[in-house]
Amino acid sequence: MRRGLRAIAGGVAAGALAIAGAATAGQADGSAGARARADAIVARMTRDEKIALVHALFPPMAKGKTREELVSAAGHIDAIPRLGVPTVRESDASLGVANQVEQRPGDVATALPSSLLTAATFDPDIARAGGAMIGSEARAKRFNVLLAGGVNLTRDPWNGRNFESLGEDPLLAGELAGAHIAGVQSNRIASTIKHFALNSQETGRMVADARIGEADLRMSDLLAFQIAIEKGRPASVMCAYNQVNGDWACETDFLLNTVLKRDWNYPGWVMSDWGAVHSTVKAANAGLDQESGQELDEEVFFDGPLRAALDKGQVSQRRLDDMVARYLTGLIASGAYDAPVPAKAVTPPYARNAEVAQRAAEAGIVLLKNTPVGGGDLLPVARTAKKVLLVGGNADVGVLSGGGSSQVRSVGGAPVEMPLAWGGSAGFARVTYHASSPLQALRKALPGAQVSWTDGRSLTDTLAAAKAADLVIVFATQWTTEADDVPDLRLPNHQDALIAQVAAAQPKTAVVLETGGPVLMPWLDKVPAVLAAWYPGQRGGEAIANVLTGRVNPSGRLPITFPADASQPPRPRPVGLDTLSGLEAAAAADPARASGFVLKSFPIDYVEGADVGYRWYEKKGLKPLFPFGHGLGYTRFAYRNPVVTGGDRLTVSFEVVNTGRVAGADVPQMYVSREGSGAPMRLAGFSRVTLKPGEVRRVTLTAEPRVVADYDTSLPGWRIKAGTYRVALARDAADRTMVSTAVLTAKTMRP
Ligand code: BGC
Repeated sequence: MRRGLRAIAGGVAAGALAIAGAATAGQADGSAGARARADAIVARMTRDEKIALVHALFPPMAKGKTREELVSAAGHIDAIPRLGVPTVRESDASLGVANQVEQRPGDVATALPSSLLTAATFDPDIARAGGAMIGSEARAKRFNVLLAGGVNLTRDPWNGRNFESLGEDPLLAGELAGAHIAGVQSNRIASTIKHFALNSQETGRMVADARIGEADLRMSDLLAFQIAIEKGRPASVMCAYNQVNGDWACETDFLLNTVLKRDWNYPGWVMSDWGAVHSTVKAANAGLDQESGQELDEEVFFDGPLRAALDKGQVSQRRLDDMVARYLTGLIASGAYDAPVPAKAVTPPYARNAEVAQRAAEAGIVLLKNTPVGGGDLLPVARTAKKVLLVGGNADVGVLSGGGSSQVRSVGGAPVEMPLAWGGSAGFARVTYHASSPLQALRKALPGAQVSWTDGRSLTDTLAAAKAADLVIVFATQWTTEADDVPDLRLPNHQDALIAQVAAAQPKTAVVLETGGPVLMPWLDKVPAVLAAWYPGQRGGEAIANVLTGRVNPSGRLPITFPADASQPPRPRPVGLDTLSGLEAAAAADPARASGFVLKSFPIDYVEGADVGYRWYEKKGLKPLFPFGHGLGYTRFAYRNPVVTGGDRLTVSFEVVNTGRVAGADVPQMYVSREGSGAPMRLAGFSRVTLKPGEVRRVTLTAEPRVVADYDTSLPGWRIKAGTYRVALARDAADRTMVSTAVLTAKTMRP
């Protein structure tokens, strides 16, 4: 019923001919040199060779279409051996080398935590290490183009794909996406950044029309892309499924030609999302360079129809050359062109790579609440605890992961894996747990205690066991997936009621949340300790145990606001969900005419404009459950002697002191706004600082100028108005205990 809804058939073409990327002389260079080299290669190509490079196979549906070996994954483009152009094999790779629904039987990979957890580290080094690890595994598995770098801003807490991107703030998301991409590409393979732009909800993602004004768009979602592209230099940009202000994202001249290629001078290639192409002439002339997953489009727009359009002069020869040259530029500049992947897959060092996943999880788990019960804080778990009861969440065997194209089949396998009966993701997602048992890890970490687990299904037994324990830890889960939004921010399957009852029976109850993003917590007043573990990845069980027991001092900070109730965010529910559900019900009731029930395009008005997330809460005077930037630890930090300077740029310099008794990391944050502008404050700088007890460090945060500025379409460009600016040195987006002012001079910057 919806285009792009795909079932993966699996299988590798038999008797295939393997052509690993043939090397040519010369090394990768900067983009100008890369472009000159690419142009020289294009000049030697026939038209057929050029056309062959601007549309890509979707291997699960492309058996027999190439003589090369077809590895079942997201994409394949044949080599041109006579010119040294390598075979391209594309894999999804947001959280690890993906292997959705185990289309390559037995091919495991290291699974990082969700990207949202990585964002919660506020640490570009961790993002970079994750990307570098994934890239190395991908190369070993013979992939050389990775579909990574998800940087769509989270505009809605119910977005099914929040776990795959980096939260609601353009500076944080841009910095971390850039670092992740640079990490991937440090392996001399290519990475994308995606999904350009405004693929901000999953409901109706193939038809929805995202509406927003230009200045607001430049100051929010586009700023995240802009920063990430500057930092990470991705070889390719993947344009999105949805429409933007009335045009399909993959044929929007404004986005592709004006913003990306002209204003940002982007040298690489634009590839479409899988099933996101709707035309030949319009798309090619608007700046789309390559059609991905061609079997998923209505027709292969960039093959026969492109030849016809060239013949008629509707698309120029120059444009075709540019499309191909951009593809080659991306491959050359990233190093993929000159560094062939191994001829045969190599087994990566999984044990070492698991450490990368664990370090990320330990840095991004957020301690949301920790209050005293009968003496000290509930966490870390007291050494005196003798009987610890874990409840629910399959915590005996593993930790939850998010669904969709990013799904990694992790090392250790999937102890729980459930197919779906319905929903947009049913064809390519299963509810999957990684084999990392919190129960086993806690038993190891608490050798003196009796640690047991119950699934929580029998309320009477669970409450009796809870009363008999010294401490209860409830593992609460919310599975989210690409292609479906979450219709309700409450925890599913009556888990709220279970938590409330357990907490009433046992005051020493902690909750560990494994969720795609924010959830409501009607039981919060009754539960003294709550940990947001997101989807913690392949070593999540160990990371959770280390945080709960204090071996690791929690230091994650929320990259996204947790609303107090569903009415607080700009849209309480996914737009279009009611219509979609109605059509699905009608199609199910009338299977003979099911394809007649098609969801038509519908608008989503992004009324919050650039005031996404925490800015919306400030603008509307709303008090969230937990603000953006919030996170506790087992020590305390003080900020001393802040000095704010203005002039050409805003800085705040201060001392951070660890005033507690254990080592830990803190994330001081700088928020700014122009006095009298009425605009909410924006995150303009942050830094993660690790300090021993008593240690003092002087830190200087310099505001990102485009965050201080507003975008002025009449310039066009960024404009900082002269005047007084408020600067908050803060622990989270709602903290206004340390506010100073400084005067800035006027300044304009190019778009
Ligand atoms: C997703 C992309 C992904 C692509 C290839 C699409 O459905 O939106 O993020 O890279 O599929 O699997």
